[in-house]
Amino acid sequence: MILAIETSCDDTCAALVTRDGEIRANVISSQGIHDRYGGVVPEVAARHHLELMNPVLDDALRTAGAGLDDVGLVAVTQGPGLVGALLVGVATAKGIAASRGLPLAPVDHLQGHVAANFLGPEPFEPPFLCLIASGGHTFIARVEEHDGYTVLGTTLDDAAGEAFDKGARLLGLPYPGGPALQRLAEEGDPAAFDFPIAARVAGLDFSFAGLKTALLYKVRDLGEEGAAERRADLAAAYQRAIVEALALRVERALERTGLERLAVGGGVAANGPLRERMAGLGVPLRIPPRELCTDNAAMIASAARYVAPLRDYLALDAYATGERGL
Ligand code: KG4
Ligand code: ZN
Repeated sequence: MILAIETSCDDTCAALVTRDGEIRANVISSQGIHDRYGGVVPEVAARHHLELMNPVLDDALRTAGAGLDDVGLVAVTQGPGLVGALLVGVATAKGIAASRGLPLAPVDHLQGHVAANFLGPEPFEPPFLCLIASGGHTFIARVEEHDGYTVLGTTLDDAAGEAFDKGARLLGLPYPGGPALQRLAEEGDPAAFDFPIAARVAGLDFSFAGLKTALLYKVRDLGEEGAAERRADLAAAYQRAIVEALALRVERALERTGLERLAVGGGVAANGPLRERMAGLGVPLRIPPRELCTDNAAMIASAARYVAPLRDYLALDAYATGERGL
């Protein structure tokens, strides 16, 4: 089995996955601690990973009914992410691999999100178009093999999840804002306001900064009371703008690439209206279950199957920003 560790942001994750992509355990411990700050505090996240890492590993092994003797490969997220947080996972992985004489596979976090689609019981096989939208990244990729992808478009400023989180904050909702904003939007009218979707940004890149500013100005125009009264309408219209911005690029990308299948991942893939919109595009659609869309270690194990494992890894370092420049 592959033992995988993921600590790139605020979730401490460990998973056991077989070589053919069957998940035996996928443990995710979310650090609710950051909610009070309205975002993830890197130093706090790293310290909590230290406390949670061993219990999460124990939990994963127990759930899988396995011991370290059953592990043939250790996999770990090398980046991109918060360096202090990543280092906890990387050091743990090195420690386990070195003490057991096992090889180690360093995995790119974004490749992990893509590889979530290759997990059983029904792997979604390339070629397909893939949209990943989370709190930290938003990109569209052409996926033609298991060990890589071509980025076709990426966000020029905020990630889609970040747009949800920042909009939610402007509307007085708690962090993380996506789920709260979706709930509030259910009572509102998406056509009540016309928010920008950066349609003029050519090609397949995204931009969400203007949308966030448009909401800020709208809230100011309406005044405190007016904005409070129209909160649900504001949420619904804002959510629709994000969904339409994503859908517009996906449609363009399907047309341009001629790809006929679509996968969507990242935390924003949990969004109901986005799922409906994507399902309506008329191509076969794969959205992995929620626990495989948000950050998790099973997706890291999945990607590790296609990485050349290292025997000499003690000098391996984490990286904060993407090797692919994302
Ligand atoms: O993938 P993820 O768990 O962590 C990152 O790698 O960033 O994504 C978290 C993001 C947050 O911005 C959160 O607000 C957003 O996903 N999110 C949602 C929903 N659930 C989570 N956004 C919109 N609607 C949702 N239901
Ligand atoms: Zn992620």
